[in-house]
Amino acid sequence: MELRAAVVAITGASAGIGRACAFAFAREGARLALTARRGDRLQEIASALPSSEVLVHAADVADAAQVRGFVDATVARFGRLDVLVNNAGFGVRGSVEDTPDEDYRRLMEANYYGTVYGCRAAVPIMKRQGAGVIINVSSIVGHRSLPGGGAYAATKAAQVSLTESLRVELRGTGVFACSVHPVGTATEFGEVAQRESPGRAGGPVGPQQTAEQVADAIVRCARRPKPEVYPHFLSRGLVALNAIAPGIVDFWAWRAARKSGRL
Ligand SMILES: NC(=O)c1ccc[n+]([C@@H]2O[C@H](COP(=O)([O-])OP(=O)(O)OC[C@H]3O[C@@H](n4cnc5c(N)ncnc54)[C@H](OP(=O)(O)O)[C@@H]3O)[C@@H](O)[C@H]2O)c1
Repeated sequence: MELRAAVVAITGASAGIGRACAFAFAREGARLALTARRGDRLQEIASALPSSEVLVHAADVADAAQVRGFVDATVARFGRLDVLVNNAGFGVRGSVEDTPDEDYRRLMEANYYGTVYGCRAAVPIMKRQGAGVIINVSSIVGHRSLPGGGAYAATKAAQVSLTESLRVELRGTGVFACSVHPVGTATEFGEVAQRESPGRAGGPVGPQQTAEQVADAIVRCARRPKPEVYPHFLSRGLVALNAIAPGIVDFWAWRAARKSGRL
């Protein structure tokens, strides 16, 4: 896809990977629609972007009507929707046993249902256009979960299953659905997880990367869609090893989680 003047809608654009995506797509000359709950942050980002064509629309992705409102506002402003990045999300810390029921529910509502609502709002529009790319930001833990984050990882795995079905359903329509699988990324994610699960131990496990590295991989995916995107070079190896020998990965995960204070 040619990204110059393409209409790119990004959820969770007020921080981290979403914010980095806004800058990366703006550098390509795309027209942008940005959403998150903090409208003031979105306004600050919009005024710092090199692109002059930016729509800011505050919304909570856990609410279907608000997500639809964002997508509709994008089409009303720009006349089309070429790329949707379903990126908004958060995590909590805690073992499967210690994580409260309420956390399982609200994680699913934002991370999984937020993605469902985005896909369902965008698909009919993109099908009518005969073109479009939906990019769902999952995680490496969507393929291989770690101790101390099962409630979050389950939402990321749910995004993968959804994307796999959608991708095949859209075959031949000109619309693509892709999933992105970052490893630990330096954003506000850890701070938010700590705030959302006070008193529960946690910390990053495994290699780390920057939000800009993930955003660059997302831009490449929009230009040339791929079923699955792994912004860190080690990730495919981990997924393959886990398919062949999950017990070995269990052992590595146990040791790494003990070192990081998750266990
Ligand atoms: N950082 C990592 O290590 C990592 C690794 C793999 C995958 N990911 C995934 O990458 C995505 C982005 O995370 P990040 O690392 O960039 O975290 P971040 O810096 O905390 O940014 C999260 C973004 O999501 C938005 N958001 C959260 N809940 C929302 C809701 N209910 N409605 C609308 N917006 C919401 C936040 O905006 P408001 O608070 O303003 O609403 C913010 O813009 C997430 O899906 C996350 O699961 C992150």
